Amino acid sequence: MTKRPTVIPVSRVDQLAASVLDGLRRTPKELSPVWFYDEYGSTLFDSICELPEYYLTRTELGIMQEHAAEMAQIIGPQAALIEFGSGTSLKTRLLLDHLVAPAAYVPVDIAREHLIEAANTLARDYPAVRIFPVCADFTAPFELPKQLQDAQRRVVYFPGSTLGNFSRDQARAVLQRMREIVGDTGAVLIGIDLQKDPDVLRAAYNDSAGVTAQFNLNALRHINRELGTKFDLTAFEHDAVWNEEQGRIEMHLISKRDQVVDVSGTPIRFSRGEHLRTEYCHKYTQAGFESLAASARLTSTRVWTDAEKKFSVQLLEPVRVQ
Ligand code: TRP
Repeated sequence: MTKRPTVIPVSRVDQLAASVLDGLRRTPKELSPVWFYDEYGSTLFDSICELPEYYLTRTELGIMQEHAAEMAQIIGPQAALIEFGSGTSLKTRLLLDHLVAPAAYVPVDIAREHLIEAANTLARDYPAVRIFPVCADFTAPFELPKQLQDAQRRVVYFPGSTLGNFSRDQARAVLQRMREIVGDTGAVLIGIDLQKDPDVLRAAYNDSAGVTAQFNLNALRHINRELGTKFDLTAFEHDAVWNEEQGRIEMHLISKRDQVVDVSGTPIRFSRGEHLRTEYCHKYTQAGFESLAASARLTSTRVWTDAEKKFSVQLLEPVRVQ
């Protein structure tokens, strides 16, 4: 009889605690942006998109309204549309309105209830489209539904400049995964925010109503709930910092006093004024973005922008190795 190895399961909470601790032990301290997105965080995010200072969503929607018909024509008939981080799928509607006989729509999102609700609403409004929601963290490998086999072409839709929320290496990895999903014949349609006046950028991430501050602090609230930690939300304040050298806005939480927080048995010290980094929002030049895409064997074949060139939606196609 063969002996089976003993497997000691590591609980989900232990894994989450380990990843939080890993970030909090670094200098500077950091947290994964994944923590923003529980149900409350997703609702706050929807409010951010409507803030007067937050030009991104409005501008991208405008570009989609103006050019979705052309995008759909380039995508072609019977395409399977796979959306990374689908949220409310608002921009997707503009594509679905124009796509000819789409084979399927696959919204991928981490917030389960939000995802199911959005998929149900969409199914009601687009009865002819087969919708296969996938609840997953798209930064890790996940399985696509088998039903996509009969599609003519796979197109990954990644709006919202979400790519900018990753480090350069992670962004390359995400693009490479998309490149694998779409194969040699598919395409990626991606929203990319462009570099502009830092004052405009700072205001977009530090709104006067304080919604972005709540969204940022929600990472701590979420961690408290999942790990039983006792972060005092009133002891941290939000700031959005423009990092010129790296071309990115950074979301920071700044400790208002010296404090020690117990994270699963490990004391983590914060000194007064210490910054904890929770997210990057990279802003690209066209050349900078093209070089990033090229590193994932993708090339930008179409660029749509608004009149002021604040934001872009780009079609990326695979570079084929001959
Ligand atoms: N990707 C968008 C952006 O960078 C949306 C977003 C992600 C965001 N994380 C955020 C907006 C944090 C505000 C704050 O703008």
